Amino acid sequence: MASRVEMPSLSFIVARSCPGNIIGCENKLPWHLRTDLKRFRSITSGHAVIMGRKTFESIGKPLPGRINIVLSRTPLPDIANSFWQFHDTALLWARDRENSLFLADILSITREKRDFFVIGGAEIFNMFTDLFYKVYITEVLADDIRGDAIFDFEFKYPLWSKVAEEHFPQSEFDQYASRFRIYQKRDKTTRYRLLPTFLTNANSRQQWLERNLIRAQSDKRSNNKPDNAQSTIAYPASARQSEFNF
Ligand SMILES: NC(=O)c1ccc[n+]([C@@H]2O[C@H](COP(=O)([O-])OP(=O)(O)OC[C@H]3O[C@@H](n4cnc5c(N)ncnc54)[C@H](OP(=O)(O)O)[C@@H]3O)[C@@H](O)[C@H]2O)c1
Repeated sequence: MASRVEMPSLSFIVARSCPGNIIGCENKLPWHLRTDLKRFRSITSGHAVIMGRKTFESIGKPLPGRINIVLSRTPLPDIANSFWQFHDTALLWARDRENSLFLADILSITREKRDFFVIGGAEIFNMFTDLFYKVYITEVLADDIRGDAIFDFEFKYPLWSKVAEEHFPQSEFDQYASRFRIYQKRDKTTRYRLLPTFLTNANSRQQWLERNLIRAQSDKRSNNKPDNAQSTIAYPASARQSEFNF
């Protein structure tokens, strides 16, 4: 009988203005905060990250050392995934929420990671608000920030508890003062999947991953999509280089 397996938990990581809840302007971050980018890299490194197509274009390249899962209803034409061979960096397209969750779950499990991240932007945060358990939030303390992308979710007691807080001053590297907080949901939303038992041991998981990703690529070439994941593995030639080091 197939066993029920607890899936990795889903965390948000976001920076927004306070006041205003602005997260972006014309597909860019409306601030330069080096401390925050370094923290973002350290928290997300080694994990799967889910993002929207606009955020991916804004970053301009796959985040190194992470499994980048990009949501789009019309994924860009794919070319061979030259990142996959390095195993720690990959780019996968997902056509809908279920597809992105499937990829994040299976890739986190095969890497023995207990959580993965939704990193934005506004549309994608909205899509996952019923599922996230933890948020790493940077509040950028400035009242002159204007923008067109907003994340105004409120972390109210007693549903959410604050588990960490740290303050950072404005500096030559950080354009504004900021406040970093971690909130956790009091009642954890736990997701389960029925998985075949072969996915419960580490070697078999790795074999499953290699077999299925190779299959995804060869099925794509023959225009025959795999059953579980419609994702394609691609790197957009048009992507421009980001000025930020995430
Ligand atoms: N401050 C922060 O922490 C932070 C973090 C990330 C991003 N940002 C900012 O946020 C802004 C971008 O946010 P955004 O809301 O405009 O865009 P976004 O959420 O990054 O991406 C939106 C795109 O996601 C795809 N999508 C949306 N719903 C989908 C669904 N149900 N199924 C499949 N694909 C779906 C669509 O791509 P297609 O059009 O290709 O179908 C859509 O255009 C930028 O300014 C960025 O700098 C800020």
